[in-house]
Amino acid sequence: MGQYDFGIVGLGVMGRNLLLNMADHGFAVAGLDLDEEKALSLEKEAAKGHQVKGFTAAEDFIKSLKNPKAIMLLVPAGKPVDAAIASLLPFMDQGDIVVDGGNSYFPDTDRRFKELAEKGIHFFGMGISGGEKGARFGPSMMPGGDAEAYERLRPVFEAIAAKVDGEPCVTYLGRGSAGNYVKMVHNGIEYGIMQLIAETYDLMKRGLGLDDAKIQEAFEAWNQSELQSFLVEITAKLLKKVDETTGKHLVSLISDRARSKGTGKWTSQNAMDLQAPVPVIDVAVLMRDISKYKEERESASKTLLWNPAVEKDASLDMLKNAFYFAMITTYAQGMAQLSIASKEYDYGLNLEEVAKIWRGGCIIRAVCLEDFRQAYSRNADLPNLLLDKNIGQSLMDKQKDIRELVKMAVDQGVPAPAYMASLGYFDSYRSEILPTNVIQAQRDFFGAHQFERIDKEGVFHAQWE
Ligand code: 6PG
Repeated sequence: MGQYDFGIVGLGVMGRNLLLNMADHGFAVAGLDLDEEKALSLEKEAAKGHQVKGFTAAEDFIKSLKNPKAIMLLVPAGKPVDAAIASLLPFMDQGDIVVDGGNSYFPDTDRRFKELAEKGIHFFGMGISGGEKGARFGPSMMPGGDAEAYERLRPVFEAIAAKVDGEPCVTYLGRGSAGNYVKMVHNGIEYGIMQLIAETYDLMKRGLGLDDAKIQEAFEAWNQSELQSFLVEITAKLLKKVDETTGKHLVSLISDRARSKGTGKWTSQNAMDLQAPVPVIDVAVLMRDISKYKEERESASKTLLWNPAVEKDASLDMLKNAFYFAMITTYAQGMAQLSIASKEYDYGLNLEEVAKIWRGGCIIRAVCLEDFRQAYSRNADLPNLLLDKNIGQSLMDKQKDIRELVKMAVDQGVPAPAYMASLGYFDSYRSEILPTNVIQAQRDFFGAHQFERIDKEGVFHAQWE
């Protein structure tokens, strides 16, 4: 019989910090990593009196755990998760629990759930957000899957989670791969808001002609307003950083080729499968792709010219309101996708709970999440946040600003595709009649695909010529 309450496999940034967080809350925790340096340095890092031990062999690690054993994997998504499970299985018993804390692709979680259930092992996927600091001092965690197993580990997760108004940013979200799915959409929203902030920075610079100091001050001030959020806060901080060798702002020295690990793309891909429109997220994914075509962009910048003849007289307030508008529509798109996915995959999601655990700890935490929580508490079946009276009104109040912003971007030739997608989504969503009747007519014209009419029941085909 071992002495440790909990085991963590993978002692990289996330695993290590979560382990130390658990130890801070009085749990005895064992860590496993094949890298000897990572495993052995753990004890030195832990505070005095904390029960922490690092292992490099799976068998010794597992034997050190109390029964039934509880193990969390924090290894890169994909094959490393399967490899880690395979290395642990020979030493595990029925009733043990395995938690995947990485950004796993949700169908993989469903498969692993079934495979481990056949062996009597409880498995659940739990998205964890908050990066290094979050893991160390309080992340937001999104568990789904085996409810009974979650219930057994709830005290650990509630202890280490971020707290908002005393409430932990973790709760059981739903069946199957619900936890990984919610985390995937969290990341899609993260991509959308990051892209909007990047476009805002560009519009401040090239659109309004502001210098770096003014741009930094604007983000800092915005973070004291209804825009208060982690991503605005860190943008204000990162814009301050000066490179020691050149004396220039570090951000201006960073290559504009953006990387990604894939969760934003999965959100868009799955949204297409579910026919859940998330255009701001789609644009955010494709802008990271366009950013990679550096040489082509360099050539095009010399030939495809546009000379703006517009005065730079737009205001920061206009940008601020437009950003609020676009940010809210991004959350609305992601949360509508969750609502559709919950029905399709039978997750049983409660969106009020999702909004609640996103209020703290995670990358997309923001004061507006409390407004969303309240919207879902008024109507648990709300299909889209845009239909909530208060949220709809706040967008109505600011729509003239995003229209101004889009005009400014168009006139000046500054790319603002995420803003355009946000406004296009809003205008489409509030259109009682869309021009898709023309598409239906075209389909019937060339392919006899038939159409429905608004004045009588049934399906029709016309002789168009
Ligand atoms: C979080 C983040 C995290 C993500 C990174 C990088 O919630 O803590 O979403 O899970 O892996 O932010 O993501 P990309 O490499 O795809 O940008």
